[in-house]
Amino acid sequence: MKALILSGGTGSRLRPLTYTGAKQLIPVANKPILYYAIEAIHDAGIDEIGIIVGETKAEVKQAVGDGSLFGVKITYIEQDAPRGLAHAVKISQDFIGDDDFLMFLGDNMVRDGVTAFANQFRAHRPNALILLSKVTDPQRFGVAELEDGRVVRLIEKPKVPPSDLALVGVYLFDSKIFEAVNAIEPSWRNELEITDAIQYLVDHGRIVESHVIDGWWKDTGKPEDVLEANRMMLEYIVPHVEATLDADSAVFGRACIASDVTIRNSIIRGPVVIGAGAHIENSYIGPFTSISDGVKIIDSEVENSILLQDTRIERIPTRIDSSLIGKNVQITHADQKPKALRFVLGDNSQAQVY
Ligand code: G1P
Repeated sequence: MKALILSGGTGSRLRPLTYTGAKQLIPVANKPILYYAIEAIHDAGIDEIGIIVGETKAEVKQAVGDGSLFGVKITYIEQDAPRGLAHAVKISQDFIGDDDFLMFLGDNMVRDGVTAFANQFRAHRPNALILLSKVTDPQRFGVAELEDGRVVRLIEKPKVPPSDLALVGVYLFDSKIFEAVNAIEPSWRNELEITDAIQYLVDHGRIVESHVIDGWWKDTGKPEDVLEANRMMLEYIVPHVEATLDADSAVFGRACIASDVTIRNSIIRGPVVIGAGAHIENSYIGPFTSISDGVKIIDSEVENSILLQDTRIERIPTRIDSSLIGKNVQITHADQKPKALRFVLGDNSQAQVY
């Protein structure tokens, strides 16, 4: 069995972070979202992975390399534009050959991994195995209609969803899917939809199994989804505090803190991860916060947030909460008059002031 990870797309709902980086490389608990997919695939006993890349290919290649870091072999497959998931399958035919494969959308996170699904596919050998999850907002997803447990209909982003069962972005296929992706037409959003390709399999009497997962799953399409994924993954960190704290600092709960982190007169309340070279002074870091390398937090309070590399937060009088802050951002206190808020924000930034 091989695997395909989709790591193209524009990440429009995660702007401005995605102006300068791939959405799949946004860190959750200080690890790029894409790494979780590669590790889950490797754990499922698959070591040949094709990664579909688009505009952000240079960055993805730099972050993942040839895969040896993960014990897998990576082949990069270039998609000229985001033309849909079924289009990604279509252009991967040479790579997949006659093998079965697992397709993983690189912005999806599945807490319990994919080993059980790969094993179910290996044991039952259907033409496709789709994973479903009950959601409260099915119109955001592909939705399945089941009859006596059998998949009868799949619709992409339905206005009136026939059920609350969303398609999780992990699929298993045998090579019959190539017939389907070559037969279907682009959808209203001008993409070749994998949902339509699976419907084609159903309509042509192929065996499409479904499995409703009960573990946690997230499509990290929006900032609040990334923060939720961060909370979920921080629950699983193995505490490891290498830094030496001064006498006026304390760490409560689970924390991973790199060795060269400076912590002075500060309280860290886990779960929290703090990357190399960070500097925390006269501050409070609250639960569910991921702080990347080189971040400086001085005279401030931060919780339930993700701060990317080299960002600096200094003398902010109000606690920063539920925030996703990119690289090299500076949020500081100004002493000059007039007493005012001063912003230099990129396009599509969001700032909420209380
Ligand atoms: C894609 C699929 C959709 C699926 C979702 C899961 O949506 O088309 O069927 O439910 O991923 O993340 P997209 O991310 O392209 O909007």
